[in-house]
Amino acid sequence: MANIGSYENHLKNFNWSIAEKELGYLDGDVINIGWYCSDRICQLGKSEKTALIWEGKGDHEVKKFTYNDIRVLSNTIGAYLRGLGIHDGDRVCLFMDKVPELYIGLLGILKIGAIAQPLFSAFGDESLFVRLENAGTRAIITQRKHASKIQKILDRLPNLEYIIVVDDEGKKTLKDKEIVFHLDKAERVEKFDIFPTKAESGSILHYTSGTTGQPKGVKHVHYSLISQYLTAKWVLDLQDDDIYWCTADPGWVTGTSYGIIGAWALGVTQCVLDSGFSAEAWYRFIEKYRVTMWYSAPTAIRSLMKAGDEIVKKFDLSSLRHIASVGEPLNAEAVVWSQRMFGKPFYDTYWQTETGSIMISNFPGMKVKPGSMGLPFPGLTAAILDPDSFEPIYAVNKPGLIAFRHDWPARMRTYWNNEETFQKKFKNGWYLTGDRSTIDKDGYYWFIGRDDDVINTGGHLVSPFEVESALLEHPAVAESAVVSKPDDINMEVVKAFVTLHAGYEANDEMELDIMNFIRKKLSPLAMPQEIEWMDKLPKTRSGKIMRRVLHAKEWGEDIGDISTLEND
Ligand code: WTA
Repeated sequence: MANIGSYENHLKNFNWSIAEKELGYLDGDVINIGWYCSDRICQLGKSEKTALIWEGKGDHEVKKFTYNDIRVLSNTIGAYLRGLGIHDGDRVCLFMDKVPELYIGLLGILKIGAIAQPLFSAFGDESLFVRLENAGTRAIITQRKHASKIQKILDRLPNLEYIIVVDDEGKKTLKDKEIVFHLDKAERVEKFDIFPTKAESGSILHYTSGTTGQPKGVKHVHYSLISQYLTAKWVLDLQDDDIYWCTADPGWVTGTSYGIIGAWALGVTQCVLDSGFSAEAWYRFIEKYRVTMWYSAPTAIRSLMKAGDEIVKKFDLSSLRHIASVGEPLNAEAVVWSQRMFGKPFYDTYWQTETGSIMISNFPGMKVKPGSMGLPFPGLTAAILDPDSFEPIYAVNKPGLIAFRHDWPARMRTYWNNEETFQKKFKNGWYLTGDRSTIDKDGYYWFIGRDDDVINTGGHLVSPFEVESALLEHPAVAESAVVSKPDDINMEVVKAFVTLHAGYEANDEMELDIMNFIRKKLSPLAMPQEIEWMDKLPKTRSGKIMRRVLHAKEWGEDIGDISTLEND
């Protein structure tokens, strides 16, 4: 029996107080996610239950942590940070691979009331810099192999006081601001004064890319727990005896909302695989740990499909009870394929960094229509808006903008240091997601595409602006325009159109030089798969580059109205 019971019944009587009651929270109380994810579970008698099974690069490299371990170890990290003088409201960045310190460290940061800023460890120095600068980050917790990227930008980050290295082996002398902390050698802190955060106290800052400007820091608060707990329970259907695997990296919102908070607030055992993707390794992982609930993403699913059906049959995947997906459009074929291979469909879920929790989804027990994102979570007021009037469209199957009334617990509270851009996300009292969809006669949402130029490659949002800025720093590049182009696996990949300054030659050598130049600045995910040389870029008469024209060309679409195009 699925946790949610009847979706229709919940629609009639829904109130977020359902989650508040289950969590024993009363309006105005102290609410600290770090406590809810560890101390509370121990208080419920599950101290010795496994909270985390972690596997590193090799099969033999396995670590297990009970709920009491993560309680004590997050205390230990919290006490260490507090000892450095870090306190409530300070931003502490986590810049690590998917190592246990990342998961437990996040709770430690929250326990002292500081704000956790997880960043994807593959980010290059420039991507890292803009995010640390914007957040005014005071401390960064990292691994030896990533610390050199921080050194490169350190002189431009006056607020950054500590670089805490969790795996330093003492082979090299420490660089400026580096200090060493070993979680397994530190004295375990059994009792800890958790900072009394309230509902609206800042918790996590996740950076996300928009069309224009630098990445924006989405500010979440401790009250987000209410949505994350209930959606993990009703949509992901997490149950007490589950072995849960969320494949997302906590550098992205899925890896924190559901790869840490949702699962641990429910006292579920979760496992983490900290190694690169291969179909064989993933199936082996499911088989080895008898994974029952698997939350993944369309690009990974398409890669598994490509690896073929034969390989699936080599493994015993019968433990899987429920499977779900997020991050990009989940094509109908992938749903049909999973039904055939695993005996169940991937349940698509739709949400954003800004929403903090799942908004539209296929609920366990409900009819899955392959290709559809499903229905809004109870309690949400969702609509498709007319792009001109920003009024709801009631007609069936008519495209419009996906929007919500901004009133669920996990909604973002602002963009860090950028309230102005935050305010622009609203029209007529609706929060605009920036996505387009239709609604069918049964109320199911069918994703169409984004309403902006942001590129979603393999589930990762890439701002054309960020890539264009990196390109423009190369001495040969005069102008650049970055758009998506179609791709079988990643759905979209990044493509750059470039014009060169006089005196430079467009050839393979130049392409390699530019690629190497930007590789160090960006994350591998944001790297263009192709550079196309242009003599000039299409522009409006006011001189704005028209990405739309280049995008249409890549996708073989009608270019549309180009009457504002510059013609000389
Ligand atoms: C896209 C990830 C189609 C969408 C949790 C959204 C999706 C953006 C789906 C947010 C889905 C997410 N079907 N598109 N099921 N889920 N998206 O902030 O464009 O990294 O706005 O959050 O991904 O990406 P973000």
